[in-house]
Amino acid sequence: MIPRAMGRLKIGVLGSGKGSNFRAILSEIQAGRLDAEAALVMSDVEGAGILDLARAAGIPAQVIREPKFRTKLSPEVEADVVERLRDAGVELVVLAGYMRMVKAPLLEGFPRRVINIHPSLLPAFPGLESWRQALEAGAEKTGCTVHFVDSGMDTGEIIAQAEVPVLPGDTAESLHARIQVEEHKLYPSVVARFVSGELP
Ligand code: GRF
Repeated sequence: MIPRAMGRLKIGVLGSGKGSNFRAILSEIQAGRLDAEAALVMSDVEGAGILDLARAAGIPAQVIREPKFRTKLSPEVEADVVERLRDAGVELVVLAGYMRMVKAPLLEGFPRRVINIHPSLLPAFPGLESWRQALEAGAEKTGCTVHFVDSGMDTGEIIAQAEVPVLPGDTAESLHARIQVEEHKLYPSVVARFVSGELP
């Protein structure tokens, strides 16, 4: 394992929702257990909770404005996101509930440095509401996956997974809640592997 020589790992976080995974990572940083710094948080949703969390913690929080598309960013908007991340000194881009496909500008701007968390044991149940998919498929177990992001939908190389059993009587909501408990442990643990240099 090669220790990183340059101090705290600067992460940039992109999210569209409430930001509980960002909060989990931030808690580890604030507790001194994760030698990273959230340098910038960005959201494509103006009122997203993740922006409020960042502002409350004194972390720069910016809105991404995309007038044309709902499921991706225009190339020029995504290129601007890359520039803002670079300006903030970001070394690792952490997608935390970011609901758009990532395209060439970000992937080429941060090669092997864009990661995502997904609420299933990939390659099972890619796409939306994976916990509901697992329940409807009658799966006995599901979980969460942290993976490198590529141009596909939840197809990038898997870094780490945590299993969650599907229990009798589970609803989509109860299952998702138990998956999130595991997400909040798994995601900071993967960021720690980038901090330590274990993930080159
Ligand atoms: C998580 O379930 C994550 O796996 C998925 O989106 C959800 C984000 O939740 N990609 P939060 O905004 O981090 O609470």
